[in-house]
Amino acid sequence: MKKNRTMTRILIAVLALVILIPLVVIGMQLAHDPGSDQPGVPVVNATEQVSRGQYLAMAGNCMSCHTVRGGDEYAGGRAIATPFGSIYSSNLTPDPETGIGNWSADDFWRAIHNGKSKDGRFLYPAFPYPDYTKVSRADADAMHAYLQTVPPVRQANREHDLRFPYNQRILLAFWRALYFTPGEFKADPKQSSEWNRGAYLVHGLGHCAACHTARNSLGGTIAEGGLAGGMIPMLDWYASSLTSDAGAGLGDWETKDIADLLKTGVSRRGTVFGPMAEVVGESLQHLSQSDIDAMAIYLKSIPGIDHGGPRPVPAPSASAEAMLGQGARLYEQNCVECHRADGKGVPPAYPPLAGNQSLWAYSALNPIRMVLNGGYPPSTGGNPRPYGMPPFGTSLNDEELAAVVSYIRTSWGNQGSVVSPIEVARFRGVPVD
Ligand code: HEC
Ligand code: HEC
Ligand code: HEC
Repeated sequence: MKKNRTMTRILIAVLALVILIPLVVIGMQLAHDPGSDQPGVPVVNATEQVSRGQYLAMAGNCMSCHTVRGGDEYAGGRAIATPFGSIYSSNLTPDPETGIGNWSADDFWRAIHNGKSKDGRFLYPAFPYPDYTKVSRADADAMHAYLQTVPPVRQANREHDLRFPYNQRILLAFWRALYFTPGEFKADPKQSSEWNRGAYLVHGLGHCAACHTARNSLGGTIAEGGLAGGMIPMLDWYASSLTSDAGAGLGDWETKDIADLLKTGVSRRGTVFGPMAEVVGESLQHLSQSDIDAMAIYLKSIPGIDHGGPRPVPAPSASAEAMLGQGARLYEQNCVECHRADGKGVPPAYPPLAGNQSLWAYSALNPIRMVLNGGYPPSTGGNPRPYGMPPFGTSLNDEELAAVVSYIRTSWGNQGSVVSPIEVARFRGVPVD
């Protein structure tokens, strides 16, 4: 009898905990509004504030996500594909009913800083507030002031297409408890003001970590703020490491090469493609040279992860050797014209493939997709008429494409591995962008 009663008590206690803990987490997340006591910053010059807000919104690439291709600016409705379904961006125009026309600067600050909508609902982190939380109150206010000046568009927000249980916003409480730390950027007094400006932009409005950090299956960052590179789920591109890794990152890039790449889309070390082409084309090219330089200086200072020197490349097997021979011939026939026999290309028009770590570090995804579909870097002020790369998806079969990609990943000192025709076949079906 006594034993039975103890068991019942334990059971009740466990049940209570199982119910109570989630309620406490949800309650805490609902109630927790850090920064809500922070007053708006007094405005000295309203016109200046609006133009600064426009610049900052450019740095945050807000328009690109909040505008449907060919649609009204900032009216929302663009689908963001996630592993849990599609999320649609919101209307940020000042329409009072469907947009954010009746949002105060405080409401806007709470969304940017703490990922909550005007009515207190949790926002999905497809809106990169885990990065934007680093933005200062004055900068958030400036963006709010600017958005109140764009033409209002009456367009109701579209419902998200999310699977159960991901369509239950309230459950974001757990995601937030695990992966979201609200907090403004804190300058490091030991570093220069340039470095601090760069860090502020990279980790805040630039939301570089949204793509350049590895994520787990719930979309949480694995190494917080790591920038050590990661797969972008759904887009099927690999965003390379931005740390000073000698092998995989920007370790042996000059600061100027990084700045050129960010501002113009091309550099002596490589060109941008895939989602990075959009980031440069729509956002980074419009930033001032001093902000770009600050970002490059900061990126250059991120310590690399020591992998213990170059990875040993196993001697190719006989079959791999035959494949690389075929790859060399195909390279000679199809690629030397632009990328040259020594793989050094003709930068900035034709990027080098030798020493271009984005082709071989960790993933063969990017070069396979580039050779299949070709592409153009964005047209920018510094590179208005970009040279393009022709697609080879129709002229080369899977085996040939695997051979030539294997060849460029392993030649001229590149330390990649060979890829198989099966890998190529997998990416044939992936939409071009
Ligand atoms: C990567 C895409 C992306 C970018 C970049 C982005 N947003 Fe969003 N934003 C979204 C999505 C998706 C939502 C909807 C989230 C939801 O419904 O939970 C959203 C929601 C919002 C909301 C909440 C609106 C509401 O009605 O609750 C605000 C405010 C907002 N974004 C402002 C901005 C600003 C300002 C920027 C630039 C600094 C920006 N966003 C950049 C995708 C983006
Ligand atoms: C939407 C996703 C996305 C965002 C946001 C993004 N990147 Fe990228 N980035 C990529 C992808 C994918 C690549 C690989 C393709 C390439 O090299 O262009 C890349 C490549 C790069 C490269 C070249 C690296 C190399 O080894 O060749 C640099 C430098 C870079 N990004 C810097 C940045 C910075 C700085 C930010 C923030 C301001 C940023 N990226 C934001 C997706 C993104
Ligand atoms: C007509 C000139 C031309 C030819 C031929 C050509 N490429 Fe390219 N390639 C380019 C240009 C231009 C880019 C930059 C495209 C971009 O950034 O979107 C590029 C980019 C690349 C990239 C991505 C590297 C980076 O940093 O942007 C790879 C990988 C690549 N080419 C491989 C090949 C291979 C393999 C072949 C032969 C099968 C080939 N290319 C043929 C012009 C060419």
